[in-house]
Amino acid sequence: MIAGRGRVIWAAAKVNLFLDVLGKRSDGYHELATLIVPVGLYDTLEVHPREDGELSLTCDQPGLPTDERNLVWKAADALRRRAGVSAGASVRLVKRIPQEAGLGGGSSDAAAVLAALNAVWHLNLGRSDLASVAAGVGSDVAALLPGAGATWCTGRGEVVEPTPAGGPLHLVVVKPPVGCSTAEVYRRVRQSDHPVDGTVIRHALAAGDSAAVADALHNRLESAAFDLQPMVKQVYDRLNSYRPLGCRLTGSGACVFAVCRDRADAARIARRFEDDATDLPGCRVFAVPTTGAVP
Ligand code: C5P
Repeated sequence: MIAGRGRVIWAAAKVNLFLDVLGKRSDGYHELATLIVPVGLYDTLEVHPREDGELSLTCDQPGLPTDERNLVWKAADALRRRAGVSAGASVRLVKRIPQEAGLGGGSSDAAAVLAALNAVWHLNLGRSDLASVAAGVGSDVAALLPGAGATWCTGRGEVVEPTPAGGPLHLVVVKPPVGCSTAEVYRRVRQSDHPVDGTVIRHALAAGDSAAVADALHNRLESAAFDLQPMVKQVYDRLNSYRPLGCRLTGSGACVFAVCRDRADAARIARRFEDDATDLPGCRVFAVPTTGAVP
C-alpha cells in the first residue's frame, strides 16, 4: 500500500518447525540447521523518505529502543551504506509480535524496512543483495525478507534456501509472561552428538501433511530454554495436554506452539488454554496459520 511517497509494509512473525545446533563457531555463534515458516501475526511499518538525511523511528510500544540499538535503525543504516547513499527516512512501527518470544519480530521488522527502503529510496537492489545486507543485521533477517516463504536456513541462520510448503498449518502460539534472552539460551545449549535429519520434516511440509510435520518437530534449544525459564515448560505441558498433533518451542523461546488438525481444532485449543490455564496468568494466545507457501 502506498501512502504519499512512502509505504506501509507488514512484517510477519515466524516459527521454527525444526532447529538443530551443529556446533560452536570461532566467531561465538552456533552453526544451525533450521526450518523457518512465516505465520499470520504481523507488525506494521510506515516508511517515508526524509530530505534531511536523518533516520528516525517511533514505536507504539513504550520501552522499545528507537535509536541505533533497534534492528530497524541498524537495517536502514546498513542499507544506505551498502548502496552508498545518504538518504534519510522516518519509520513508524506498530508492534503486535511479542518480544523475547522466538517469533523473529525484531528481525522481521528489519527485513521489512530493507524491502520498503529499497523501493522508497529507488535503490533497485536485487534479492541476493538485500539478503546479504540482511545477513549483516542479524541471523534471522534474511529468512524474513517479505515474500521469502518457508526457508531452510544454515550457517548461523543467514544462509537461506526457499523450501516448498504444501499448505497452511494451523497453529496455536502461546507467549508466556516471561521472555528468553537468545544469547543466554545459546550459552546453555548442549550441542548434539547426532544431528537430526531435517529432510523428513521438509518433505512433510512440502506435502502439507500436518500430522507428519508434527511428528518431526525438533528444537535443540528447547531444554536450555526450559532450564532458563521453568514457566515455559509449564506452558508447554499445558498446551500439549489439550492434545494437538504436536507441540514445540520456537527459536530460543519463550513462545511455544502447537500444530493442530485444522482451523477449528486450533480455535478449540486456543479457547481451552484461555479458559482453563488460569493458574498460568499473563499468557497471550494466538491461533494463526502459517503463510507464504512457495508453490
Ligand atoms: O544474530 P542475532 O543478533 O539474532 O543473535 C543473537 C545472539 O544469539 C548472538 O549474540 C549469539 O549469542 C546467539 N546466537 C548464536 N548462534 C546463532 C544465532 C544466535 O549463538 N546461530
